Amino acid sequence: MIMSKYTNLIDLDDMSSEQWLKIIKLAADISENPSKYSKVCEGKIMATLFYEPSTRTQISFQTAMLRLGGTIIGFDNPATSSVAKGENLKDTTKIVSSYADIMVMRHPMEGAAKAAALMADCPIINAGDGSHLHPTQTLTDMLTIYKEKGRLSNLTIGLCGDLKNGRTVHSMCKALSDFQGIKFVFISTPELGMPAYIKDILKVKNCEFTENPVLENAIGGLDILYMTRVQKERFSSEDEYLSLKDAYCLDRRKLSKGKNDLIVLHPLPRVDEIPMDVDDDPRALYFKQAKNGVYVRMALVMSILESPNASTPLLKGEVYPDFRCQNPACITQKEDYLPKSFTGTEDMCVCEYCDARSLR
Ligand code: CP
Repeated sequence: MIMSKYTNLIDLDDMSSEQWLKIIKLAADISENPSKYSKVCEGKIMATLFYEPSTRTQISFQTAMLRLGGTIIGFDNPATSSVAKGENLKDTTKIVSSYADIMVMRHPMEGAAKAAALMADCPIINAGDGSHLHPTQTLTDMLTIYKEKGRLSNLTIGLCGDLKNGRTVHSMCKALSDFQGIKFVFISTPELGMPAYIKDILKVKNCEFTENPVLENAIGGLDILYMTRVQKERFSSEDEYLSLKDAYCLDRRKLSKGKNDLIVLHPLPRVDEIPMDVDDDPRALYFKQAKNGVYVRMALVMSILESPNASTPLLKGEVYPDFRCQNPACITQKEDYLPKSFTGTEDMCVCEYCDARSLR
């Protein structure tokens, strides 16, 4: 077993639902009383390493640290760092984590944040790893739901759009399925459907889910509609993207079939899946949701920096020297020195970085 001596946030599984609730309640308090928290991170440095574009996640993390009285370093484009000269993830992580007290990483490859946590000399927060996970977006979504609905249980949540490549919906399913009475409705085409491993997690947790490819038919039964963008950057062919990019659009006519207390969320950025004239509908809460990202990240950074050093498992499975993950987007394909560690069975291996299953 390979352990980390820090409290990291790689996946929401790293915390219990009680711990998430504590962070969400702290975030709600911060949003009411921001000045109370303006010095709690004085003298601390956060590094934000963004290997992939971002507006909300990067800037809200930076705002969070500045509002807590700390300072920030990092890059928002690896081309302006020594990554452009071929520096590997291990060396960049070792160096930057020796400069900072906490490090936030977004990376296009799945499992990159976990790989960084194996090497880091400070806590790591996953700010999105390829199509895999985006746990701090889910904390943002949970805070928004908690503030708007007053609960995180007994809700019917429609997830619409690119459920295959949208990492925010994967993290949301994993997190909210721990709460009582949550039902998911997956609204997507077969090509953009929810990955089997997420459905399996829901089955194990006895969390109900149904599939309905027609938004108009599904919307009337929902408490929350979570729209997502078709993720152009994850497609290997432009033609395939073009054939799917307009699969879903929440226009005013479709929204008129939703309940009066429906809330419409979107992690943003949006492209064409929500026309701008929907923004004026009081049920459209995505801008409020993005603002909540600052409060929840303040609560998360504070909680991690105040945690005593931990002893948390990062890799628990087996390393098979003759075998590697079959997912081309897995970080182990690029960073060859990483221990190729798997759970599952000897025949069906589950990669501990990206969760992909491979036949052995
Ligand atoms: N929601 C989200 O992750 O947005 P950015 O890609 O702009 O960070």
